[in-house]
Amino acid sequence: MRKRMPIFAANWKMYKTFGETAKFIDEFKTNFKAFDKNKVEAVICPPYTSLFKAAEKLAGTCFSLGAQNMNFEKEGAFTGEIAPAMLLEFGVKYVIIGHSERRAYYNETDESVNKKLKFVLANDMVPILCVGETIEEREAGKTESKILGQLKADFAGIGEADAEKIVIAYEPIWAIGTGKNATSKDAVDVVNFIRKTMSEIYSKPLSEKVRVQYGGSVKPENIAEYMKDETIDGALIGGASLDPAKFIKICESVL
Ligand code: 13P
Repeated sequence: MRKRMPIFAANWKMYKTFGETAKFIDEFKTNFKAFDKNKVEAVICPPYTSLFKAAEKLAGTCFSLGAQNMNFEKEGAFTGEIAPAMLLEFGVKYVIIGHSERRAYYNETDESVNKKLKFVLANDMVPILCVGETIEEREAGKTESKILGQLKADFAGIGEADAEKIVIAYEPIWAIGTGKNATSKDAVDVVNFIRKTMSEIYSKPLSEKVRVQYGGSVKPENIAEYMKDETIDGALIGGASLDPAKFIKICESVL
């Protein structure tokens, strides 16, 4: 019996139009048997333009809806940004914050990540916070110091009751979209380090409650390796989540 509810989240990134979203979910609904919500949580994070269609099509299923980013202001003159009320209107439950692609290409910093985490929580949604190292950092033996720095800065000023709701995704940058997934041992080592850090920042009980996913080239063929160690609470999936049959297989890996 797992201590924490596993959670699999599909990060569609900048893939799938409105029409493709409808097609995906239709295919998807004919292929999966409803999951027991007490055994696994499954989330789809489409682009903003597909949220409406996804919300409509997923209504009444065991899937939750997520977004890929959110601004830390309520509303205003922020061209191209998305506000919490706009996500809440579609029933969005999860918001991915601090993905390495946003940190690398859109100037997302630990400071903005921290503000966004607080604002997602203040709006009663659940952040999925991404942390992870580059290949250069790993090879230089700096994986732990990078993750420690990110966790300390990203959780700054967040109280324990809020912190335990946040899902942390360990996504080594070198494993994202490369087909070179981390070994389960490497992933487990870092996830254990994340728990140790959370225990130092907060408390042991919190470190045992917080859910930590692995992300980076997860596929139906490798998900079992990660899930056999109950330290890892699921996955954040990019490429493989674009195929309904593959995403279903990944979600079913814990059933
Ligand atoms: P891939 O599964 O395509 O490697 O992407 C992982 C990821 O970035 C999920 O957020």
